[in-house]
Amino acid sequence: MSELNDIQSVLTENRIFDPPAGFQEKLGGAWVESMEAYRDLHAKSIADPAGFWESVASNLQWFKPWDTVLEWNLPDARWFIGGTINACYNCVDRHVEDGHGDEVAIVWEGEPMDNDDPDIRHLTYSDIQDKVSRCANALKSLGVGKGDVVTIYMGMVPELSIACLACARIGAPHSVIFGGFSSQAIVDRVEDADSRVVITCDGAWRRGSVVPLKANVDAAAAKTKCIEKTIVFKRCDNEIAWDDARDHWWHDLMEEADAECPCEHMDSEDMLFLLYTSGSTGKPKGIMHSTGGYMVYTMLTSRFTFNLRPDDGQVFWCTADVGWITGHSYIIYGIMANRVPTLMYEGAPNHPEPDRFWSIVDRHKVTQFYTAPTAIRAFMKWGDEHPAKHDLSSLAVLGTVGEPINPEAWMWYHRVIGQERCPIVDTWWQTETGAIMMTPLPAATPTVPGSCTLPFFGIDAIVCDEQGNEKPPNTGGLLSIRQPWPAMLRGVHGDRQRFIDTYFSTVDGMYFAGDSARRDERGYFWIMGRVDDVINVSGHRLGTMEVESALVSHDAVVEAAVVGMPHEIKGTGIAAFVTLGGGVEACDELKASLREHVAGEIGAIAKPDMIRFTDALPKTRSGKIMRRLLRDVASGKESTGDMTTIEDFTVLAKLRDDED
Ligand code: WT7
Repeated sequence: MSELNDIQSVLTENRIFDPPAGFQEKLGGAWVESMEAYRDLHAKSIADPAGFWESVASNLQWFKPWDTVLEWNLPDARWFIGGTINACYNCVDRHVEDGHGDEVAIVWEGEPMDNDDPDIRHLTYSDIQDKVSRCANALKSLGVGKGDVVTIYMGMVPELSIACLACARIGAPHSVIFGGFSSQAIVDRVEDADSRVVITCDGAWRRGSVVPLKANVDAAAAKTKCIEKTIVFKRCDNEIAWDDARDHWWHDLMEEADAECPCEHMDSEDMLFLLYTSGSTGKPKGIMHSTGGYMVYTMLTSRFTFNLRPDDGQVFWCTADVGWITGHSYIIYGIMANRVPTLMYEGAPNHPEPDRFWSIVDRHKVTQFYTAPTAIRAFMKWGDEHPAKHDLSSLAVLGTVGEPINPEAWMWYHRVIGQERCPIVDTWWQTETGAIMMTPLPAATPTVPGSCTLPFFGIDAIVCDEQGNEKPPNTGGLLSIRQPWPAMLRGVHGDRQRFIDTYFSTVDGMYFAGDSARRDERGYFWIMGRVDDVINVSGHRLGTMEVESALVSHDAVVEAAVVGMPHEIKGTGIAAFVTLGGGVEACDELKASLREHVAGEIGAIAKPDMIRFTDALPKTRSGKIMRRLLRDVASGKESTGDMTTIEDFTVLAKLRDDED
């Protein structure tokens, strides 16, 4: 943690943007209208969390009301104890029962062959109720019951959301694996979760080619006995292998299945889903989320952050993949609970043309748009002419998530996409927090490029030292949360100790997020980055250790150290320092083969951007790899820190000379 002292903020950002005039009317009124209203309600939510969350929870439909709002025995929080609820019921059935069955719930655009002829589907709440119920019955027919984890490894098709909701309907926690992950990643996750059923697709379209999802599941099934049944949704009609005993077509099961399936009454604390994410050590960990608390918090953050209102012609688009927490909370649960159409797209932002996103915004009259800084930086690079081709006047709120946004990208987003009339909500949160923790509120909070501004209701955030003492303004410290919130993780699957060690051992008596931050004189938060060995590559989270183990599992490699390095588009790129075994020749072909090897072990997102071969790695006398030095080498900086403990100075000099 001593490194925190090195991180002095270089930003002195003075530009401040008040919520644009006319914004309220455009969205049919604002939920939180002013800074005074925000401060007043925030203070109340912190002084009386139980009272605050109780009033929010009544916006959802419960089968049985709770007896107690909160029980907090650090590190364990239980919310809405005794209450029973179903997440699928609140996203789908409730709206049908209230007479909105014919309204559009999901708008989908598949990857087009050309920009003017996209594949579009509109699914109503009634359509979804029918499909979800059939899918739920199909799962039951394969022996899935309450509490059984179902793995979902699909492309971005509406059936992915339907599969998640079907699991929620019968109380089977889902574990969604991002379609870009490898077969080995599937093996690790199904084994950890003891998940016996996998829902997948034959393939998914990405930039004109087929991602072989089913083949990856086949390869995983060859490596583990865990996978007993698969359900395959036909998307690409590509050639696939078939195992009659294991594989079932989605369309066959759906046709056979009954269209009636009651929603299981779930205890508020029952697990809604498991989502694997990278940590600083070992294999990815399964983050467990509850049903009641997650739904209450995700519903409210969706509503207030994006000013969602169901009857005002809004269309919400979050560009993330459902494989990440952003997609769980802001493509499915939070948005559908608010009865606002949620847009989902398949493909890539620059295929067939770099204006793909803006053509979608224009065609579907998207009102709220939520994406990642890495995408914004890529759009900047591709040029203003692409958004200029389209009418973006429907846009009212712009959001960003996943990594710090550099002020230059923020300004471009504001000027070119928002045309200076859309508030930008820079939302800070994590897989573990379930939903947004800090964000401006669009009609209330003045924004400053690069700051996620202030905590959401009920969030008691602090920048402090290890003892929990608050840091003075503009001083870096550990970003921690003092009080529990409804969507906080309930644990790490199968690893109680890791849950305690990772989140509740760094700072006395608080949840520690793994990020450092500072607060400015206005009280606004500025995220400074991870202080653990987690890196954020294009907003995708990876553990440096994970990439190191992937490298070391290659025959040629003896030792590897992986660090983050600045990257123009990705924010952080991956730099790998690799020591080879005796007799192995360091060459470009080997670099390429190492990259492919990492892609096979984890997924393409983990491929190192730079590989440097080295005879030895700089270590302390106790044998610890000096990552700070490697970070400096990777970013081309001179090391200014203390180097007296370095084992071999020549190692460092050698690394510097040997430019990639
Ligand atoms: C880490 C969590 C939240 C969904 C996507 C990422 C970084 C996230 C911001 C932001 C600066 C951010 C943090 C955090 N991060 N949002 N607005 N500004 N940094 O979820 O994969 O769990 O990663 O992403 O470092 O700890 P995740």
